[in-house]
Amino acid sequence: MTESMTLTKATQTEANPKPAKPHLPDAQIVTAVKHWTDKLFSFRVTRPKSLRFRSGEFVMIGLMGDNGKPLLRAYSIASPNWDEALEFYSIKVQDGPLTSKLQHIKEGDEIILRPKPVGTLVHDALLPGKRIWFLATGTGIAPFASLMRDPETYEKYDSVIMMHTCREAAELEYGRQLVENLREDELIGEMVEGKLFYYPTTTREDTAQMGRITDNLSSGKVFADLGLPPMNPAEDRVMVCGSMAFNIDVKAVLEGFGLREGANSEPLEYVVEKAFVGEGV
Ligand SMILES: Cc1cc2nc3c(=O)[nH]c(=O)nc-3n(C[C@H](O)[C@H](O)[C@H](O)COP(=O)(O)OP(=O)(O)OC[C@H]3O[C@@H](n4cnc5c(N)ncnc54)[C@H](O)[C@@H]3O)c2cc1C
Ligand SMILES: NC(=O)c1ccc[n+]([C@@H]2O[C@H](COP(=O)([O-])OP(=O)(O)OC[C@H]3O[C@@H](n4cnc5c(N)ncnc54)[C@H](OP(=O)(O)O)[C@@H]3O)[C@@H](O)[C@H]2O)c1
Repeated sequence: MTESMTLTKATQTEANPKPAKPHLPDAQIVTAVKHWTDKLFSFRVTRPKSLRFRSGEFVMIGLMGDNGKPLLRAYSIASPNWDEALEFYSIKVQDGPLTSKLQHIKEGDEIILRPKPVGTLVHDALLPGKRIWFLATGTGIAPFASLMRDPETYEKYDSVIMMHTCREAAELEYGRQLVENLREDELIGEMVEGKLFYYPTTTREDTAQMGRITDNLSSGKVFADLGLPPMNPAEDRVMVCGSMAFNIDVKAVLEGFGLREGANSEPLEYVVEKAFVGEGV
């Protein structure tokens, strides 16, 4: 079994079964780390016994700052809610207050995790439908890494379509391996068979499938490629997670198909979450 499988296969036993006693407030122990590119890595940490969350939600995690105060940032939980550990998928911002340090964590280290999950990318925020679309750019795939591994997703929908777009192919690798492992998984493999459509594209490196999500939806290319009908408010439900520019543009496309934005308090046809705040690194 490869290192990447160990990390992406949520059923895997952790490499460090008896972690040392935590010392930080709300501390959890890092049990695995994998670097995907010079800008992306994923890691797993122990899960507090009392932590319940809905797949797709985010929590605040971080490290102790130089001033002795916790330095926390929002992170989508990338593992499904049935997993015994928690997985996160992270950017490395060179001069980012948190990720300039977080990118150096290794097995056995402690991180801080505030056990108060929240978020809009949850099944409860959508009306029942036939197909669910997960639309992500960059690290925006993290909440869908959770939802794609949750059996509830396949119980609720006939088809699950994961569109993930990055500049380069290497940035798609975390998602690609996750989907591959899911299809081979003894328990969930059968459930996703014929239901999970994976549509990765690049925009700046030549690959077999290219183009922005907005363009592939507007032109109808993705529907033709996957043999699905055009998006419509009676059958399609959508969850969006990307940069602010992407979120704004894709919302306009979804509204053009007649879908309306919902929330936990008012479930409708699509929901949106920011993958991060800010424009550039
Ligand atoms: C609801 C929510 C969920 C989030 N989930 C995740 C997650 O699962 N994984 C993750 O890596 N980040 C996630 N983020 C972003 C995260 O909170 C931090 O911004 C990130 O960890 C960088 O922290 P920092 O202190 O190093 O830099 P910051 O000072 O927080 O950010 C510096 C700049 O880096 C850029 N940037 C920050 N995060 C990203 C990113 N993810 N992708 C591309 N550019 C970015 C932005 O331009 C930002 O202005 C999420 C943010 C929100 C609001
Ligand atoms: N990833 C890198 O190698 C890299 C390098 C230098 C700087 N940065 C900075 O880091 C930040 C995050 O980088 P990132 O690559 O994760 O995010 P990003 O720049 O938002 O790009 C991620 C993907 O989303 C697409 N996209 C961006 N805006 C869109 C929109 N409005 N509508 C539809 N699709 C859109 C991009 O396509 P396009 O390629 O067509 O824009 C790209 O395929 C960016 O703000 C960027 O300035 C990243």
